[in-house]
Amino acid sequence: MDSIRVFAPATVANVACGFDIFGFAVDNPGDQITLTTSDEPGVRIVDIIGDGGRLPREAARNTAGIAIQTYLQHIDRTDIGLDIVLHKQMPLGSGLGSSAASAVAGVFAINELLGRPLPILKLLPFAMEGERVACGSAHADNVGPSLLGGFVVVRSYNPLDVIKIETPATLFCTLVHPDIEVNTKDARFILKNEVSLKNTIIQMGNVAGLIAGLMTPDYSLISRSLVDVIIEPVRAILIPEFNEAKKAAIDNGALGCSISGSGPSMFALSRDAQTAEKIGVAMQQAFSAVGITSEAYVSEINRQGPRVLPN
Ligand code: HSE
Repeated sequence: MDSIRVFAPATVANVACGFDIFGFAVDNPGDQITLTTSDEPGVRIVDIIGDGGRLPREAARNTAGIAIQTYLQHIDRTDIGLDIVLHKQMPLGSGLGSSAASAVAGVFAINELLGRPLPILKLLPFAMEGERVACGSAHADNVGPSLLGGFVVVRSYNPLDVIKIETPATLFCTLVHPDIEVNTKDARFILKNEVSLKNTIIQMGNVAGLIAGLMTPDYSLISRSLVDVIIEPVRAILIPEFNEAKKAAIDNGALGCSISGSGPSMFALSRDAQTAEKIGVAMQQAFSAVGITSEAYVSEINRQGPRVLPN
């Protein structure tokens, strides 16, 4: 019997101006999965720890389960038997890429267990299937960075074209998750289907500016470019105290602050660990002032993506 345990990182999708096309991975939090081979063919979820019983136990409806199933179909190995134990180590519906981390952990783990028949980049479409069952849309801005590590641009979905971008050697991310839940499907439903030419021009300038700022690196350009005139103004209403928490981040030295993925978590970028910690405290205070509890996570950009853990 073979067994493998894998960690996959949480991610910040959109990164202000890059709806559905930008995302980066963080060191903390993340999900863990354990796969164990079995004599009985088929993929089974035998346990999920940390979800309060809310995630589907049926493999075809679970993000990790479906990612592994579609992978095994692709490599023509549906004869394999697999028992999955998923350790959820981040809140559900949080905007931290929870469904993506599970899907990535699953598909990375099975590929490692089988001796890497596919290169990492080829695992992406299977992890995206996990996103499809989780929220009805196979977006790659969470699974891309969780799988590849670092900051990822999805240049095109059809054909899939994903690019990993250099980031400054020191760049810290503060994540604050207020204890409310936002369903990604709902957060997508409220978006407008049409965007004005004026806002498209502003957004394109910021998209280009953020990439140039990250690659140069130029912190001031990063800061000026972390602006979203299309999605944030619509979704901010789903997060009580959004404006106060954002102001707290900026007042305490953040380069920029916006919604992480579809929310309700918010992220802020900064140049050093001390500032990142201070930002977290200030943002949490903004939420606690109105009685909303929250969790804060501070970490650097995760450059590695998923990794095998000792069994
Ligand atoms: N880009 C997606 C969205 C990420 O904002 O809806 C959701 O996790």
